[in-house]
Amino acid sequence: MRKDVRRRRGAWHPALGAFGWSAFACGVLLAGVPAARAADLRVCVDSSSAAVARDRSVAERVATQAGLTLVVAPFDGSGGGQDGFALKKFTQLLTSRCDLVMGYPIDTSGGEAPPGLLTTKPYAQTGFVLVDAPGTVARSLAELPAGTEVAITGQTAPALYFAANPNVVPDIHDSDADTMQSIAKGQAKAAMIWQPTVEQYERTPGAVKLATYPLDEPHARYDLVALYLPAAAPAARLSNATKIAMTNQPSPGGAAPALYTKAQAAIGLGKFIGNCAMCHGAHLEGRSGPSLKGPNWASEKADYTVGEVFTMVSQQMPATAPGSLENADYVNIMAYLLQQNGYPAGDAMLNFDQATGSTVKLRWHGGS
Ligand code: HEC
Repeated sequence: MRKDVRRRRGAWHPALGAFGWSAFACGVLLAGVPAARAADLRVCVDSSSAAVARDRSVAERVATQAGLTLVVAPFDGSGGGQDGFALKKFTQLLTSRCDLVMGYPIDTSGGEAPPGLLTTKPYAQTGFVLVDAPGTVARSLAELPAGTEVAITGQTAPALYFAANPNVVPDIHDSDADTMQSIAKGQAKAAMIWQPTVEQYERTPGAVKLATYPLDEPHARYDLVALYLPAAAPAARLSNATKIAMTNQPSPGGAAPALYTKAQAAIGLGKFIGNCAMCHGAHLEGRSGPSLKGPNWASEKADYTVGEVFTMVSQQMPATAPGSLENADYVNIMAYLLQQNGYPAGDAMLNFDQATGSTVKLRWHGGS
């Protein structure tokens, strides 16, 4: 089993069995997709992907910003199969059906685009997460009691994590649906699964709310990008669309804008605990450093902008080792601070430059 996973892991996708594109047949793709007008932005989305709703909404925003009519061409990227995915299928999609293929996951520990294709900037972060069943309290594999069975879907990257974590034992399921069921029903105490699968489950009626934590293991974190052909880049419609930094739209009417993604805030929580909580409190309540949450901090009186706070944090914090964290860590911590001060998560990732330049006022928008 494990040998099998290692062999497959080198392939383009972390979860070939459940989330692979291996079986999408050309016949399916070519049938039933409307022909596009020249001025449209045509995107392909994997209708079998748990992240398809996000892929669509990001494409909608890009098209709106570029002033283009969006044509969405769904394809079925599901299915098993031993051969793995023929990467040339992406090229086929891009030559026949669409300008962009949404939702391609790039392993943040060194993944690459399929040969010959270009990628947009990442528009979301995702990956495999630890899911606690109701009653389980563990933020990492290491915190689970010895002998805990952890549900996973066969042929996915988390199968590799048991070797380094001898306290946990694999409980292997055939599909992501089975893995989710076993955790929702409490048959398994914890699971490791592709994060969009959890989000998809949580949108189903009667779903149990589950706590998820990003995994720090290798090949657990992915950036979602869109693929396109180099030859297509000069075309005005595409260069417009790909040039648009998938930035955040302030929401109308003075409501708190969505500046970051849920995944960024989740990662930010971990970074905050590791680097900031000793002085600012595990719940941002303040200790030797001030509280970083609530109406007194994010106030009209203090009148900070997000950019000012971020610049201060990235240059002066942690107070004992200013500037010592990675840029991405600072950004994710900012996402966590925004989340804790009542800003909603959105589809687009916050990046370092946006955070530094943000003129959004830091105000308390309520929260827990
Ligand atoms: C060793 C203790 C310590 C650590 C670790 C630390 N801070 Fe601070 N922080 C402080 C102190 C003390 C202040 C107040 C400094 C001042 O007012 O001059 C402060 C101020 C701040 C402020 C400004 C608050 C305000 O209202 O002006 C922010 C924001 C902040 N810290 C965020 C962070 C973040 C994020 C981290 C982790 C990356 C972090 N700090 C790590 C001690 C610490």
